[in-house]
This record gives sequence, structure tokens and C-alpha cells, in this order.
Amino acid sequence: MHGHGRPHYTNVQYPFPVDPPRVPTENPTGCYYREFQIDAAWRGMNVWLRFEGVDSIFHVWVNGVEVGCSKGSRLPAEFDVTQQVRPGKNTISARVCQWSDGTYLEDQDMWWLSGIFRDVYLLARPAIHIADIRIHAPATGKLEVQTDVIGEGVVETELLGDTGPRRLWSPEDPHLYTLLVKLKDKAGRLIEVVPQRVGFRTVEIKGDRFLVNGVAVKLKGVNRHESHPDHGRAVPVEAMIEDLRLMKQHNINAIRTSHYPDDPRFYDLCDEYGFYVIDECDLETHGFNITKNWDRNPANDPAWEAACVDRMERMIARDRNHPCVVMWSLGNESQFGCNHRAMTIRTRQLDPTRPVHYEGDSTAEVTDVISRMYSHIDFLAKIIDGKEKIEDFQQYGMVNLDPTRYTQKPFFLCEYAHAMGNGPGGLAEYWDLIYSSDRLMGGCVWEWCDHAIRQRTADGREWFAYGGDFGDVPNDGNFVCDGLVFPDRSPSPGLIEYKKVIEPVKIEFVGDRVRLTNRYDFSNLDHLRLEWSVTSDGDVVERGTLPTPKIAPRSTGEIQLPKTKPGVLELSFKLAADCLWAKAGHEIAWGQTEIPAEQKLVVLPKRELRVTESATRAEITGDNIHLTFDKVRAVITDWNGLLRTGPRLNFWRATTDNDRAGWGPQQYAKMWREAHLDKLQHRTDSVCVTQVDAATVQIVARVRIAPPVFACGFACEYTYTVTGDGGVEIAVNVDSQGELPPTLPRVGLQFTVPANCDQVTWHGRGPGEAYRDTKQAQRLGWWRATVNELYTPYIFPQENGNRTDVRWVEFRDARGVGFRASGVDNFSAHRYTTADLESARHTIDLVPRDFITVNLDHQHNGIGSGGCGPGPW
Ligand code: GAL
Ligand code: MG
Repeated sequence: MHGHGRPHYTNVQYPFPVDPPRVPTENPTGCYYREFQIDAAWRGMNVWLRFEGVDSIFHVWVNGVEVGCSKGSRLPAEFDVTQQVRPGKNTISARVCQWSDGTYLEDQDMWWLSGIFRDVYLLARPAIHIADIRIHAPATGKLEVQTDVIGEGVVETELLGDTGPRRLWSPEDPHLYTLLVKLKDKAGRLIEVVPQRVGFRTVEIKGDRFLVNGVAVKLKGVNRHESHPDHGRAVPVEAMIEDLRLMKQHNINAIRTSHYPDDPRFYDLCDEYGFYVIDECDLETHGFNITKNWDRNPANDPAWEAACVDRMERMIARDRNHPCVVMWSLGNESQFGCNHRAMTIRTRQLDPTRPVHYEGDSTAEVTDVISRMYSHIDFLAKIIDGKEKIEDFQQYGMVNLDPTRYTQKPFFLCEYAHAMGNGPGGLAEYWDLIYSSDRLMGGCVWEWCDHAIRQRTADGREWFAYGGDFGDVPNDGNFVCDGLVFPDRSPSPGLIEYKKVIEPVKIEFVGDRVRLTNRYDFSNLDHLRLEWSVTSDGDVVERGTLPTPKIAPRSTGEIQLPKTKPGVLELSFKLAADCLWAKAGHEIAWGQTEIPAEQKLVVLPKRELRVTESATRAEITGDNIHLTFDKVRAVITDWNGLLRTGPRLNFWRATTDNDRAGWGPQQYAKMWREAHLDKLQHRTDSVCVTQVDAATVQIVARVRIAPPVFACGFACEYTYTVTGDGGVEIAVNVDSQGELPPTLPRVGLQFTVPANCDQVTWHGRGPGEAYRDTKQAQRLGWWRATVNELYTPYIFPQENGNRTDVRWVEFRDARGVGFRASGVDNFSAHRYTTADLESARHTIDLVPRDFITVNLDHQHNGIGSGGCGPGPW
């Protein structure tokens, strides 16, 4: 990130020849040197030099003497330098190489970035000192503290704030105590005090349930990589806090540290903010999958056992006192090998109190939970209440299962819902299932953030780089941009949707009652305030508060609907007081219903129309309208100066990341492109203009829209009914002919309007982007935005910005001149054409046109999660 070497992105593949344990001769190497001062007061103390993270191998010298070397990029390394340091000036040098045999164990899907990326510091400790502390603080409240002491000393402990019954720790109420571990020498003199934070909680597995403090909790999680748009892997603590605050604000309560142990400060923050953490070992050998079906995979080679076990030991020794850590993960995507067995045995010796997780153990031979990635909801439905059969696993892509080894255990989605680009779609269906069964523990969306790296053009415009942008080959392009937040942490529509789907209070309107389900695992609703409001035509016409209902965790209650004026009634649960991660008034959950008003029918006076027609053109005029129609191309060419080009049927969209990849037959973009749906041609078959009465003219156009090469296509009929009041009704009838793909990207009308017609108002779901399977978080209301504001700047440009369940939409210029469209469910508008969005590779490739492209869509194909997982349901 400082100009030495270059970022290189690959997902599965190793960027060098696979020949373990050897690495390339050309091995980027950084040499670091600095001076430091040691205080005279440190004389007689033991001094350790500690590195929290160095990628991938380094050697260290202090005052010119080599003190050692270490591997394990995301693990701590400590060197005893007592003999080397002296009061006054000292020097330290480190030589860091990018590639080592350890690299074969670190093939995670992320940028290859080498260097010293976490803190380096000295620790001075008395000759007699506490070498290790192991804390066991179960929900029974019985605290056990074990210590290792070097030299002769006596340990005493004191739990601060320990008055009354011990409060338990959970993400909903992360209550922490401070434990002082004091060491005294034989004479009773205090030698050192080590503070540790303690949270009382129990994690256990009973049958097929994963229990925290006795409750079958839900993990509403994300996978988080350490990634920063400017600092790469060196994430400042402020950025960690920002991530955690954002997660809490979006109802997230769990984090898998994919796919390595994080900066140690991160776990302190997770204890404090309240998160379940699945702490994952720095082990992934995914690239062996490509070479020859895992041939020579280090995870299954006894020669690598010590290296694998060492990584597990160092993680556990570092993190075991954190209440936030609820499972140990053996790593990611390293198939299943003998070394996983050895790691599990060692894990259970070091910490018998936490379950072991590893997705690659497909029969859950050694792990305590069954973990899967990107499972289809149909498969989850079978898992519920133990109805799954081995054949079900096989049907959903898990082969080579040994049925004799398989036992029913809690089920965890370590990854699901691929948040790449526009999406993920279909979250609601996952959570309906997860809530329906105690066996389903929940899961972690893949993934928290886009890892793209911030760049600027010469003239200062910001853009974000992904694989290939640094001349890095081979690379996996923008597959590194698959997060719920953009690289700069602005929430993508996916995060807003996730917040809604996992909200802790479910609100359902049943007649004049409201059914409320408290989905907290431990809390009642006392920390929330219940507000209501009624909106009509864009104005709040009434509002109030209701007493917070008394509903126990994991149970349901009912309240009476308030009697209100007509409009959209919204109930909203908000934080009653400030907390660590949000201010009072922060919204947690909401629900809406419509209170119908009496319909008023407006009858407009009839105004006369005149038609003039030639062989190629029709012109319709009246007091309120001037419309011209191109009879050759069957399209409106002018409508009161409001159109630049008139509406035509459109079936194409700029394919999304989720359209482009996917499993088997769900590779939509490929299927659509092979059918040439991106090159459809419009042929006019007939146009017939009829004056129906003095105030009505009808144009019926028959058009065939079809791809080149094939015989299939769409027989279309547009019926334009032009009325003297100035309106145009467009009825469209589409019949498919021949063999078309089973789905289409979209069905709708596309037209363009002048660039200044950019003030948009609509009644429907908003204010944000939404598609048929990503719309839970958008509310029914009256919304206003400029065309620029409707755009979602996905790092890799693609279809975006749709608004759905729309009743009407208006486009106007600054003077208020414009039009209203109604009768279609979806609209979107851009300063870019569909082709512009499709051909751009980065946001800065998009140059605003001098017109606006408007889509009024009957329907879109769903968004789904096909970028890496199932497509739209
Ligand atoms: C999973 C993998 C992740 C990431 C994801 C795709 O298979 O565990 O690290 O590569 O796919 O984005
Ligand atoms: Mg991988």
C-alpha cells in the first residue's frame, strides 16, 4: 500500500507454480530498520518483542543479533530479547519475505499483500511474572482462573464490580467484569497486576441444538475480512469500531473472522459491543483443488501436521479468554485431511468449552456442528427437525459422503447470500426457515465489505480498484467486491435489506390487532420505544407513541391497532436511550399497513383531438397535446416535448454479478446472451391509426421483436390510446414464439427524456433500490429523489436503482413540467444507457449522457445469489 510491490488478487488459484513447500526465486522482500530507546527503569526486567501480524515469513535482529524468525501471517510471534536490549539506544531490523512454505496454508480469497501490517511492540515484565492466564466463566457464575507463574509467587484475583448475582454476557447485553490477576512475591509484595475482562456465559451443544446460556440462539452474522480501502490489511482501530457500530445498527450479532484470526484488539471490541465470534484458524489450501483434485494438499499430509496444529494452538492461546468467541474454526476450504483431525484433538485439549467448526468436514466427523456454504432453501427445509437424508446432501452438491459417519448436529450456514454487486436476493426465505427450527443456528452472509482499493484519477475523481487493475495476473477480477458495504463503508442496499430481514421484532397486522414477535433470545422489549405514524400523500398526518408491550424473549404478544386517519400506518420500534453503538431513536424494527381512504373518481373534461396522417407518420393534436408517431418504426417521436425517444419494449438489463456466475443452469447471463437477448431486433409489421371518437385516437402497432440467428421471438402488440386530456395509455401484449430461454432479464418499456427532467417523485416502495426478492427493507410511501440519487454506484457497474411496488412515478424538470406514469410496478432512471452500464468496468468509465434513460418495468428476473450460490428462488 506504500508502493513497494503491488496488490495481487486471486480467489482460489495460487499466483505461482504449485510445488509445495517451494516458492518462487523472485520473492518480494522488505527490509525494515529502526532505532528505539529503552528506559533505564527496564534494567533487570524480562523484555519480549511482539509482532501481531507479518505476512508471510520474517527474520528479526536486535542490535545486530538475530533473535529468530516466524511464520503464520495472522498470528502473534513473540521473541525473548532480554539478552539483546540495553538501556538507551537500540536497533531493530526485520526481513520480511512475501512467499514461504506458510503461503501454501494461506490461500484465502483476498489480495496478496505482504509486509508488517499489525502492531509491533516491546513488553517488559518482572523476572517473576505471570506467563499465562486461562479464564473459565460459565453461566453458572462460578469463575475459574488458572495461571502459569514463572518464578516463586502467589496469585490472587479480584473481580471488580462483583456485587449481587453475576450478570451474564450475551450480544444483547454484553455485560463485562474486570478481573485483576495479582502476583505477589514470597514476601507479599505486589509484583504485577494483569487486568482481564470477563463475561459469564456458557456455549454448549445438546442434541442438534447450539445453546448459549441454555438458549438455542440465532447467529445473524457476516463474514468479515480485515480490509481497508486505503490501508489494505492494516486496519486502524477506529475502522474496526466503525465496522462494529455499523453491524450493530443493522441488527447483526455474529461475525466469522473469515478466514484467519483478526487483530487482537478486535476481540476486545466484540466482547464490549456484543458479538458472537467464530474464530477461524489461518489455514486455507484452496488452490490444491485446482491442481489435481487436492493432490499434495498440506492439510492431508502428515509432514504438515505440526504447522497446522501450531496455527490452531497460537490462535487458541491468544483468544481463549474472550467471551465473544463461541466456536473455534479449523480454517476454510482445505478439504478434509488428517491434519484437521490432529487440530481438533489439540483444540479439545486446550479448550474443551467451545464447539469446533469446519465447513470442509462434510460429515461432521470431528466438528460439533454441520456447516455449509450457500445452501439452497430446499435443502435447509430438509435439515429442519432432522428430516435430511444422505441423498439430500448429495443432491445439493456434496458428494463422497460416508453415511456411516453422519450424525445429526446443529446446522450452521458459515456462508450464505453472496453480497456481490446488486444483491443478495432471497434473504427473507432463508430467515423464514431459520426461525422455524431450533436446529438452524443462522448464518453469516458472504461477506461484510468490498475489498477494493481506493484510487484517484489525475483530476481527483475517486474510483475503486479490483483484481487486474495493478497488472496482477492471473487474477479473479471483481470477485473481491462482494460485500454488504462498499469499500468506504457506505451501506449497499444489501445491508439495508439484511437489517430488515433479521430485525428483532416482527410486526404483523391481523385485522385490527397487531401481532408482535420478540425475536431477541434474551431481552424483553423494555429498551425500545414504540412509535406510530400515518402518512398520506407524502405528509405525516398523525403520529403518536404506544406503551412498549411486555413480551418475553422468543415469544409473541398482541396489541390493538390505534384508530387513525386513512393513509400508510407505520409502527416503529426505536432505541429508548443512547447505547454504545447508536443514539436514542435509532430504529430497530418496523412494519406498515394501509388504512384505506374513500376513492374519489376524477372525471376530466373531454377535449377534442385532430389526426393528420401520412404513409410514414401520424400527428395528433389537441388543446393539451401534441403527439407524433413514427409509423415506420412504430414508436412515439414526440409527446409534448417530454420525450427524447418514445417507449419500446425492452427485455434486457445490464447483467448483475449474480446474473453472470452461478450454479449449473442458473448461469443466467450466459444463457440470455447465448439466446442473443442482448441483440433483439424490432420489426414493424403493421400500424393502424383510428379516431375512435372526437376525444380519442387509437394506434395499434404490431411488432415482432426477435434475436438474430434464431427463429424464436416475441409477437407484440402495442395499443396507444391517446386522449384529449393529454394522456396516453399504452397497453402491451406480448406472445412468445418458439424456444426462448425459461427466464428473461426483464419485461418493460424503455424510453428517454431530456436531461433536465430529473426530479422524480413516486408512490410505492422507497426510498431505496429494490427488486422482487430484495424489497423487504423498502417502505410504502411518497418519495422524492433526483435521477442521480436513484443510482447505486456498484464497484463493477451493472443493473441498479430499480424501485418496486410502484403505483405511480412522476418525472419533472425544475419548473415542474413533466409527466406521470402509472400502471407498472417498477421504474428506474439513469443518465447512462443500458449498454453504458453493461460495458463499463469501473464507476469512472460511466460518462453521463445528455438525456435520461427511463425504464417502466412490468417485472424483473429476481436478483438471487447466483454469483456464488443459488439463483433467484
Ligand atoms: C467461498 C469462500 C470464500 C469466498 C466465497 C466467494 O467458497 O469460502 O472465501 O471465496 O466463496 O466469494
Ligand atoms: Mg477459497
